[in-house]
Amino acid sequence: MTAAVLVVGSANADLVVTTDRRPAGGETVLGGDTRILPGGKGANTAVAAAQLGGDVALVGAVGDDAHGTLLLDSLRTAGVRTDHVRVVDRPTGAAYITVTPDGENSILVSPGANYALTSADATDAVAAVSADSAVDTAAREGARVLVASLEVPLTVVDDAIAAAARAGVLTVLNLSPTTTLPAETLQALDVLVVNEHEAAWLLEQARDNRSDNRSDNRDDDGSGDRADDLGDVSALLDLGPDTAVVTRGADGATVVTRDGRVDVPSPQVKAVDTTGAGDAFTGALATWLAAGATPADAARRAVEVAAISVTRHGAQPSYPQLHELS
Ligand code: RIB
Ligand code: NA
Repeated sequence: MTAAVLVVGSANADLVVTTDRRPAGGETVLGGDTRILPGGKGANTAVAAAQLGGDVALVGAVGDDAHGTLLLDSLRTAGVRTDHVRVVDRPTGAAYITVTPDGENSILVSPGANYALTSADATDAVAAVSADSAVDTAAREGARVLVASLEVPLTVVDDAIAAAARAGVLTVLNLSPTTTLPAETLQALDVLVVNEHEAAWLLEQARDNRSDNRSDNRDDDGSGDRADDLGDVSALLDLGPDTAVVTRGADGATVVTRDGRVDVPSPQVKAVDTTGAGDAFTGALATWLAAGATPADAARRAVEVAAISVTRHGAQPSYPQLHELS
């Protein structure tokens, strides 16, 4: 498959420890051995996409340290181009992750080098990709795709999306972790990817904007925002993107476009570690969008990729190769 996917986002060393329960403030709990695994939303997305056959580059930053080497090795092994990953004078980003027996994780991120990433890093890379394909259009039948996620400075994401949109590159944003975005960024966006919590948060914001001067706000028990109550999910399109994709864990994903809503079920699997499942989904989605699939078809493949990833430990080490898909 021909694809050019440019990922702008973080690279973190994931310091993972299993625990029966998380410590409360002031408490000490003994967990399992520490594992140090390659992660970070940007690097995860890039690795997932590359392992599925995408032609992928990461725009990111790591430190000149052992964690940086771990990440560069993982990216290169997966086939991700790293010429836009800068080595900077700050510690590589780290994510302190606790995983409980039900497979659920909680994550504390220390961004470090990721916050040394600049708008110029991203816009230069967008220019390089656009130039690449201008001389080689025959070899690139697929759309070119930019994928961004947070954990890097918001201005970098804004400027990357603006530059990509100007260059005619399809833009995908995984709005994780949630951040308030400028309206122009959402309007320039082609595909928004959010999980249920992020979707609920955005929908609430959109409602608040609309009802600023009204007194008939819904009551505040949160029920209107609940994850499984995605009734008005098409309202995400009012924020600007052409397509919104809501990932729903074991329930699969919901894709909304102007043409309507498609619910994509997930294969039922036993989850051992959901860390980075959303990034795997986004990387897979980008690879198939770049290859010309519709958002719903791309989401079908992406749901399968994410389902495989949760059956294995870690983020990047859990991502499937193309031949593992049905
Ligand atoms: O989305 C999962 C990722 O979030 C982890 O790999 C961790 O690095 C944090 O960035
Ligand atoms: Na996993």
